[in-house]
Order: sequence, then structure tokens, then C-alpha cells
Amino acid sequence: MATKIIIDTDPGVDDTIAICMALRSPEVQVLGLTSVFGNVKGEVTAQNALRLVELEGHGDIPVARGSDLPLFSRFEMDGAVVHGEDGMGNTHPPTPRGKVIERTAAQFIVDTVRANPGEMTLLAIGPLTNLALALRLDPGIAGLVKEVVVMGGAAACPGNMTPVAEANIWHDAHAADTVMAAGWPLVLVGLDVTQKTVMSAQFRQELFRADNAAVRFIEKIIPCYVQFADTVYRMDGGIYTHDPSAMAYIIRPDLFSTRSAPVFVETEGRCIGQTVADWQHQWEARPEVKVCLDVDSAGVLALIRERLTR
Ligand code: BDR
Ligand code: CA
Repeated sequence: MATKIIIDTDPGVDDTIAICMALRSPEVQVLGLTSVFGNVKGEVTAQNALRLVELEGHGDIPVARGSDLPLFSRFEMDGAVVHGEDGMGNTHPPTPRGKVIERTAAQFIVDTVRANPGEMTLLAIGPLTNLALALRLDPGIAGLVKEVVVMGGAAACPGNMTPVAEANIWHDAHAADTVMAAGWPLVLVGLDVTQKTVMSAQFRQELFRADNAAVRFIEKIIPCYVQFADTVYRMDGGIYTHDPSAMAYIIRPDLFSTRSAPVFVETEGRCIGQTVADWQHQWEARPEVKVCLDVDSAGVLALIRERLTR
């Protein structure tokens, strides 16, 4: 039976790749997308989520709009330089036909988990505000989800937003700490593994030989993302595989090595957004989460290629 998932997302170039993979994977059934501020403003990510379900004819999948702001801090929009002002590489795609549903993202998550006890996987590939708000509405959902897969954090490597913080966690550190402490079965697919998997220029060239709406769209929006990686990381045409790695985990967890530990998120000061894995249990008790520490990168890339070109 296919795994039922909700994708909580701030699209976003790499979110787009992850969502296209999900919608082309028979192992998962996408019950909805929930949008959140992050790479760009909330009103833009909601429109992008609608565009992405419509891209290959899935306009019947509901999109619920989520938070425009972090729980307590200010939203500092900085993803535009990475993903474009429109989150779609400054290509300004046409207005989507559909509309977001009336319910908030948090309410949609609660209702869907309650309606499918023990069956829902939440794939979170943006800031964790909607998940924290869902827990606030109904803490009982923590015991009812099958799994929460989060693209976020940097447990044993430097951050990408600051020397210690990864972007999704940094954008709403308070929400992230709530999500880490909730006691649900959670997996962190962080920079420890997403930066080990690089989509090279050659990989993309081969990918773009396929002819379908998803690949054509990704080819169009990706140059801005590649240029950022070239300028900032000097990656010679390569790009890190953040959100698609988390999607790959849902289909092929065997491609990842994990270690369990309680994870704490720093919520103030210079190190805000740092994910601290308490490997030795030296701090106060907190439920453990699984932290991905290694990955079969070739396996992840092969899976992405296969899903986008099938
Ligand atoms: C994460 O931040 C965003 O820019 C990406 O979409 C990804 O979710 C990587 O740190
Ligand atoms: Ca994202």
C-alpha cells in the first residue's frame, strides 16, 4: 500500500524537484501540500504549491496555505537570491487555476492525521512553523503519525545560513525545537547528507534529455539556483540535493545511515538555529530522533533521475 504523505513546503527550486518526484512515485500517495513562508513570502509559496500540483495534472490535490511568519521572530527573506524573487528562478510562471482550501495548513495537517491514524508521513521541506502550529492545535497527533521526515539541520557539519544553522531550522528555530521535542517518530535529513549528494552539470544535462512537463519546468527554473551555488560555493555547475534527498528517504530509507539522539535547537543568540544532537545524553531527557549521517549519494541520484524521467 502506498504511504500517505503531506508535503509541507516553501517552493522553491529544490522543493519543486522533491514535489515532482513525489507526484511521480507509486510508493507514495500525496494527500495534500501545505505551504509556508521560507524561500520567499508565504503568499508566493502558496501560489507556487498550486502551480506544482497542476504541472502534471494533479490539480485535485488540496493545497492549504500556512504561516507567513515564524512563531516569535521576524521573517528575514533571503531565499530570493537562491530561488528567485518568485521562488521559481525569476521565470514568473502563469497564475495557477486553482485556489488554496479554506482551512489553514495546521488544521489540514491535524484533520488529515486524525482521519488516517498511524498512516500519515509528514514530509517537511521548509521552516517548521506549520508543524509546530499543528502540534499546538492538537498535541495528540504526535502519537498518530507514521513518520515525520524533515529536511533540516546540520548535526555534525557547518550550517548554510550561519556557521552553525541550516536555513529551514534557522527560519523558525522555536518551531523547530517544538518539532524536535514532540516525541513523534522523526528523521532529520540535514546538510550532513544533503551536501554529500551533488547534482552535477552532467547529471542535469542527462536529466534534461527527458521530455515531460516536470523536467521542462525544472530545466527552466534551475539556472538561478545553479548560479547561486557557483557564486557562493564555487561548485563548478553542481548543486546540493536538499529537499529531494528527504523525499528519497521516504522511498528508499536504506540509502541512508542514521544514528539516534535527542536533538535540541538553539533559540537565541548568535547560534540561533543550531541543531545540537545530544549523542551522550548529557542534557535533560528528550525523545530521540533519527539523524541521517551518511548516504549512498549515487543511489539517491539514480532514484531522482529514474523518477523524473519515467
Ligand atoms: C533548505 O533551504 C531552502 O533553501 C531549500 O529549499 C531547502 O529546503 C536547504 O537548507
Ligand atoms: Ca525547501
